Amino acid sequence: MNRREFTQWMTAGAIASSLPVALAACGSGGNSSTAPAPSGSASVAAMAEGGTTIAALDKAGFVEITVKGKPATIVRNPDKKDEILAVNTMCTHKGCTVAWKADQKAFVCPCHGAKFAAGGAVKAAPAEKPLAAYKVKVAGDKITVEA
Ligand code: FES
Repeated sequence: MNRREFTQWMTAGAIASSLPVALAACGSGGNSSTAPAPSGSASVAAMAEGGTTIAALDKAGFVEITVKGKPATIVRNPDKKDEILAVNTMCTHKGCTVAWKADQKAFVCPCHGAKFAAGGAVKAAPAEKPLAAYKVKVAGDKITVEA
């Protein structure tokens, strides 16, 4: 093995040995946010930017999406089933991500327990301001959220 072959062999080895570390770094919460992930995500049928379908909403009961890169959730109003609502799920108290809890008919914040109605109104402190609500358009099976 000459010097050039040795150098190539060492470079390949260094890359191969650092790969698991790089992959682990990517897989362990690459999100710099300190907010806990929303619970109940296993039932989410679709994750899309700005919309979903009626079929996906009815299958999961709610659909988490992003609207201009911000977390949002589309949900049927539990008190008025014909109404489809969408809110920004960033808690207005300190910015944690709230999660839809169908059994409570509310978005619940995992950080300090604030609760919000499906349309974003505050149901329980410490949050004082409602979640930002988005305009929802339904055309056929398609639901589109407008920021
Ligand atoms: Fe949601 Fe505090 S961040 S209740």
